[in-house]
Amino acid sequence: MKNAKNEKVNICVIGAGYVGLVSGTCFAEIGHRVVCVDNDPKKIKMLEKGVMPIYEDGLESMVKKNVKAGRLHFSSSIKEGMFHEGRRAEAVFIAVGTPPRDDGSAELSAIEKVSEEIANNITGYTVIVEKSTVPVETCDWISKTINRYNKNSVPFDVASNPEFLREGTAVGDFLNPDRVVAGVPTKEAEAVLKRIYKPMKGAKVLFTSVKSAELIKHASNSFLSTKISFINAVANVCEKTGANIEDVAKGMGLDRRIGPAFLKAGIGFGGFCFPKDLEAFYWLSKRKGYDFELLKTVKDINEGQKLWLVKKAEEELWNLAGKTVAMLGLAFKPETDDMRFAPSIDVVREFLKRGAKVRGYDPVSQENAKRVIKDIYFAKDAYDCVKGTDCVCLVTEWKEFSALDMKKVLKTVKHPIFIDGRNLYNPAKMRGLGFTYTSVGRQ
Ligand SMILES: NC(=O)c1ccc[n+]([C@@H]2O[C@H](COP(=O)([O-])OP(=O)(O)OC[C@H]3O[C@@H](n4cnc5c(N)ncnc54)[C@H](O)[C@@H]3O)[C@@H](O)[C@H]2O)c1
Repeated sequence: MKNAKNEKVNICVIGAGYVGLVSGTCFAEIGHRVVCVDNDPKKIKMLEKGVMPIYEDGLESMVKKNVKAGRLHFSSSIKEGMFHEGRRAEAVFIAVGTPPRDDGSAELSAIEKVSEEIANNITGYTVIVEKSTVPVETCDWISKTINRYNKNSVPFDVASNPEFLREGTAVGDFLNPDRVVAGVPTKEAEAVLKRIYKPMKGAKVLFTSVKSAELIKHASNSFLSTKISFINAVANVCEKTGANIEDVAKGMGLDRRIGPAFLKAGIGFGGFCFPKDLEAFYWLSKRKGYDFELLKTVKDINEGQKLWLVKKAEEELWNLAGKTVAMLGLAFKPETDDMRFAPSIDVVREFLKRGAKVRGYDPVSQENAKRVIKDIYFAKDAYDCVKGTDCVCLVTEWKEFSALDMKKVLKTVKHPIFIDGRNLYNPAKMRGLGFTYTSVGRQ
């Protein structure tokens, strides 16, 4: 019987993005032998040289440490990932992207392709663990696909192990999770997942059916999005009534049934998870015959909230044509370089549509932003960004923006109009300095 001490598991992780690279590195950190596979050869080359393809606090040193210890490897071949240096992977995690299609449903062809390749290279009992965020029943499709190409009928199981890490705090989230959800079809699959997570001391692993695990992820992200849209809607009512959203959110959050998290009013949610998972959950429910209208409203509130900055700029500047606006921050949240579905993209588009000129700056995501945002001036730093502008908009609450020298900002801008989309600053202080200052849901 081998279960007293932690056992090393040979793991292959397919997809070395925000989820795959962090998961693979953390699995190595807790003692397993991991090969991270990606079909982007540039990414693999960078990783082999110790250069991180994404910005994530604490990741680089952990990657280097585990590569040095011989526990972490990189490859552009699934075949090599599943059989590396004479060792066969007992678990293969799928962590490829599942972007949204135009109708809101999830694009799953990368998952299908990977499943076919896994089937072509399977040589012994393997647990295929679906980690990407996918609609319920995807694991059934993975099983069917593997069965179709699994010429020698090698035994396998498909489990669901959705990932809940947040960009910006991904390494810490992965190693200290609130819970690990594992949807398993058999006792054998459960045993492999138990061995994988056993060294993660204190992690509560919730074993469920595969379908429940798949649904937990979509339901969780949709619930969090609902909380954000709810508080943003309340902030709008605060603006119209004279109440203060900070006090209202605090008062609500002190109720343990509600809790304080995700009650921060702002310019709406973005990123690669909430918008697409909300859409995919709505689409899936509808396809199954249930019109989950609440989710549609959550999305509509968010779309409206993204234009809050533009609306407030118009209230201050009247016509935006010919005016220049500074946008401080472009990433969808601080501590990430991710620009996927960042609200700033919509904000820029609306400012440009109204004839305004935009100067933008982000401390980390600037290079990624240049790929998705065109026709704006990308500033060298925050002070260059605000230079000569008619109004300054705070888009992302990076730490460096809380430490801005506001007296210097005042000297640099054309008009002292400051619109704070994240309630980062103290209204009394900003007004005391001489700004015409507007924030979300606060008088
Ligand atoms: N980013 C997050 O914060 C987060 C959190 C939880 C869950 N998720 C989910 O995890 C999944 C991955 O998200 P991500 O942010 O890591 O995406 P990503 O785009 O950063 O990474 C996906 C990686 O998969 C690789 N890939 C695509 N097709 C491949 C193939 N056929 N073979 C090998 N590699 C392939 C890509 O090159 C890319 O590096 C998504 O379903 C996402 O919704 C993301």
